Amino acid sequence: MSKIFSGVQPTGDLHLGNYLGAIRNWVRLQDDFDCLFCVVDMHAITNWQDPAALAASTREVTAALLASGIDAERHIVFNQSQVPGHAELAWIFNCVARMGWLNRMTQFKEKAGKNRENASVGLFAYPNLMAADILLYKATHVPVGEDQKQHLELTRDIAQKFNNDFKCDMFPIVEPLIFGAATRVMSLRDGTSKMSKSDPSEQSRITMTDDADTIAKKIRKAKTDPEALPDTQKGLEGRAEAANLMGIYAALSDTEVADVCAKFGGQQFSAFKQDLADLAVAKLAPIQDEMRRLMADPGHVDAVLAAGGQKARALAEPILAEIKQTVGYLKP
Ligand code: TRP
Repeated sequence: MSKIFSGVQPTGDLHLGNYLGAIRNWVRLQDDFDCLFCVVDMHAITNWQDPAALAASTREVTAALLASGIDAERHIVFNQSQVPGHAELAWIFNCVARMGWLNRMTQFKEKAGKNRENASVGLFAYPNLMAADILLYKATHVPVGEDQKQHLELTRDIAQKFNNDFKCDMFPIVEPLIFGAATRVMSLRDGTSKMSKSDPSEQSRITMTDDADTIAKKIRKAKTDPEALPDTQKGLEGRAEAANLMGIYAALSDTEVADVCAKFGGQQFSAFKQDLADLAVAKLAPIQDEMRRLMADPGHVDAVLAAGGQKARALAEPILAEIKQTVGYLKP
């Protein structure tokens, strides 16, 4: 049976890009795969996190997953630090992966910036922990965005090297599941950069906790160009802001961008933005209501994570025992 593993970081406000780009796709995978959805608190601390904020974000992200329709009874929802096997396997992979491989990771270069000497060792080894997340369960498929493709390649390299070094076929070679172009949500202020929690402008993103008025206002103020909307998808070329807003409309309404062009072609942005705001509020409000309800009940969210952690540990334990034996660790 194919098995899905995916992770989301509990850092800061979740936004529309997280929802349309990742969470919503996870919801759809639940019918076809056994899934593990992991809130990766261990990855989060590769950059310093305020402890109270980390705990709050872990609950908030979990609430968003549940509110969006992830079924924690049928699948596994947990936070990474509950399963010690992630750290144990990451150590083994620290000894499998080569410095040169990690030196090529573009995300490290971006995140470390100019001051590499001051980046945490954890930030450098981040992709090894990600490989451990996936391979601890022998997951076969990993839904990721474009920005994580390189890390997944590394996961495949680690799996292959481990299998070679120890002359075994312990690990499957995982396949990425990359979702369609319409799910790449860009900033509302600049259609060429990704919607991001680290953008200093709040106007650049719609968060999962924005109320209806805020959502409408942000969409009304979103950057556009002076032309009317195009009536074909080809007309979106070179018009990043129009492409972004029409892409968001398509994703929220479950249609193709071409259909959105056919529907709104020739109209002015002002009219379209009104429709887009109504649609966004209609689609997000029920999820946001449920999120608020869950966040008011942290005991319940913690219980869901604890139950998920227990299920994850039960899956990981026999696999980790097999790995340890293969490496030559003595049995405890
Ligand atoms: N690195 C991923 C991100 O920032 C999160 C992540 C951690 C992940 N472990 C994973 C994603 C395993 C997929 C599989 O988006």
